[in-house]
Amino acid sequence: MKLNPRLAHIDAMIDQTYDQIWDCCCDHGLLGRQLLQRGAVRQMHFVDVVPQLVDRLQQLLQQEQPDIAEQRWQTHCLDVAQLRLPADTASPSVLIIIAGVGGDLTIELVQGILASNPGRSVEFMLCPVRQQYQLRTQLASQGLALLNEQLVQDNNLYYEILHLTTGTGMPLSAVGDSMWDFSREGDRDYLQRTLAHYRRMQRSGCSEVERIVLQYEALWLRCRA
Ligand SMILES: C[S@@+](CC[C@H](N)C(=O)[O-])C[C@H]1O[C@@H](n2cnc3c(N)ncnc32)[C@H](O)[C@@H]1O
Repeated sequence: MKLNPRLAHIDAMIDQTYDQIWDCCCDHGLLGRQLLQRGAVRQMHFVDVVPQLVDRLQQLLQQEQPDIAEQRWQTHCLDVAQLRLPADTASPSVLIIIAGVGGDLTIELVQGILASNPGRSVEFMLCPVRQQYQLRTQLASQGLALLNEQLVQDNNLYYEILHLTTGTGMPLSAVGDSMWDFSREGDRDYLQRTLAHYRRMQRSGCSEVERIVLQYEALWLRCRA
């Protein structure tokens, strides 16, 4: 399966076999199909809100994976914010992937899932398009902890990938921590672009971004040290 660098990076970060993986906002389901094929999951769930996409994916899976029993995958046409995980007494390991949608929508979806499944232990793999700072601060305030974070460059754009848990992990930093490697040109470029973006907002009179600028400037000092 040919994945773009962003999806390939997410795939590589999934290094254990889960009982359930939910590929949310799956569209073509490329990532979930890859995970299913390489045996990273016992039961794969594909979720999208557009019925035509889900129907097409269902047909594709039936044709493409005739050797993979249908009990091992399921498609769902629903708003991810309403996702209710099946009741289970056996505490399955669950990974919920939300990639390729805006950060604001990602926050809404994660908050919806947490509200609909109180007390459930789950992991999230998130790769938002923009609004990474807001996503990080909101989810840290919801009590999510960090398992891993990586920065990936794809087609001249940069994406932060966050592997989070409702359980025990590291504190989730608002501007990122272990993902930065300032010996790499791309990391320095991404930090400069991010700082320039928030400085432009500050200049246009948006005073709330002042503390965001300060935090990225502190990183910039670390980068130049
Ligand atoms: C750009 S695609 C992302 C595909 C893939 N996850 C990726 O990273 O390449 C966004 C998909 O999110 C779906 N979507 C948007 N809002 C949704 C929601 N609230 N619930 C379920 N799916 C949603 C859209 O229908 C679309 O197929």
